[in-house]
Amino acid sequence: MDRIVIEGGRPLKGAVHVGGAKNAALPMLASALLTDGWNTFTNVPALRDIESIKLLLSHLGAAVEGGPGTVRINAAGLNNSEAPYDLVRKMRASILVLGPLVARLKRARVSLPGGCAIGARPINVHLKALSDMGADLELVDGYVEATAKVLRGTELFLDVPTVTGTENILMAAVMAQGRTVIRNAAREPEVVALADTLNQMGAKITGAGTSVITIEGVSSLTPVSVSVIPDRIEAGTFMVAAALTRGDVLVKGSDPSHQNALMDKLSRAGAKISLEKDGIRVCGEAPVVGVDVKTLPYPGFPTDMQAQFMVLMSVAKGQSLICETVFENRFIHVSELRRMGADITVSGNTAAVKGVPALSGAPVMATDLRASASLVLAGLAAKGKTEIQRVYHLDRGYEHLEEKFAHLGASIQRVKG
Ligand code: EPU
Repeated sequence: MDRIVIEGGRPLKGAVHVGGAKNAALPMLASALLTDGWNTFTNVPALRDIESIKLLLSHLGAAVEGGPGTVRINAAGLNNSEAPYDLVRKMRASILVLGPLVARLKRARVSLPGGCAIGARPINVHLKALSDMGADLELVDGYVEATAKVLRGTELFLDVPTVTGTENILMAAVMAQGRTVIRNAAREPEVVALADTLNQMGAKITGAGTSVITIEGVSSLTPVSVSVIPDRIEAGTFMVAAALTRGDVLVKGSDPSHQNALMDKLSRAGAKISLEKDGIRVCGEAPVVGVDVKTLPYPGFPTDMQAQFMVLMSVAKGQSLICETVFENRFIHVSELRRMGADITVSGNTAAVKGVPALSGAPVMATDLRASASLVLAGLAAKGKTEIQRVYHLDRGYEHLEEKFAHLGASIQRVKG
């Protein structure tokens, strides 16, 4: 298994370009199941999760070509309605084929994703919505089996504003009979990216990006050529790294309007942020000060940036409280950060972080995607050598991460094997 070895303590300097967003690309690629011809997706990142969804779409009978960069998908041959356990267990987001399969084939058999390191992650909201739209659902041998003679638009209120749940409902509703209204919908930019893609296919969706989305069903959709939006979490990870290493980094290609919560916290902590023509510049000349953070659905502070921000707070002046409200077990990085000298105490869903003057390098273990990113950041800031094991988690969601950090002046390398 590959390892990442970092010699910490160098300020990051220069410019870095963010890639396409994993969490936008996944539903966009799944939406190709709703059409009959060749769809072209550009700016698709080179990630393990993208390979997983491509494999799943081919398994379902779609023709999948190309990538990374440009991926072409033609679902004219869609003939299989089963997403098997072996593919779903590799990536929970495989559940994103449920909505399009029911819309297109009127049946689906999708393995239940189960929990993961960060929480139980139920899909009850996805299932309730499909049932309200007229699908019959049964749980059999760990699979959700859905059939629908016809899907009917209806009024839906989501108990939680789930991101992939909202995306599944959008894909189920675009060709349903009549109007679907989703209240308490997720407002994430990735949901908007999917709605834009579906609208280009001929769907009639309004309100994406707000908590009330209205979908007027249409009888069919046509293929599209679309580009994946930039990854706001990758961008945010570089922004935090700049402040943390007291560097000066221009994060290019990121949409600043997606970063309001992070930019607010970073500037309150003392980092200098400027919006330039081609990106967001973050300078971290002085040590930052502790600020409190609470994760929330968009536009609140993203749970996917919590672990990285905690590293910054662990070397801040003073104390900060970091409250995780989205996932129930998203502090698994804490014990590894403590091994690097961080002073963090967890009580329930809140971590009290007392800033220390510096972290020290150590051998550490990656546990999930964003926790792994936080360990890379900790290694970049720490004195001495950090060796991160199990970096396959990182490869699920960060494209060429070590090359990008090395380009900014970090001493970081991947050791194969
Ligand atoms: N939830 C329910 N019932 C449901 C669905 C969700 O109770 O039916 C709960 C979850 O257990 C969680 C909360 O609602 O407590 C939010 O979960 P959500 O469904 O919004 O998460 P998701 O759609 O499974 C996406 C991203 C995650 C990101 C979350 C929150 C994708 C493929 N994944 O997951 O990304 O953390 O939204 O923003 O879009 C990552 O990229 O590392 C990652 C985990």
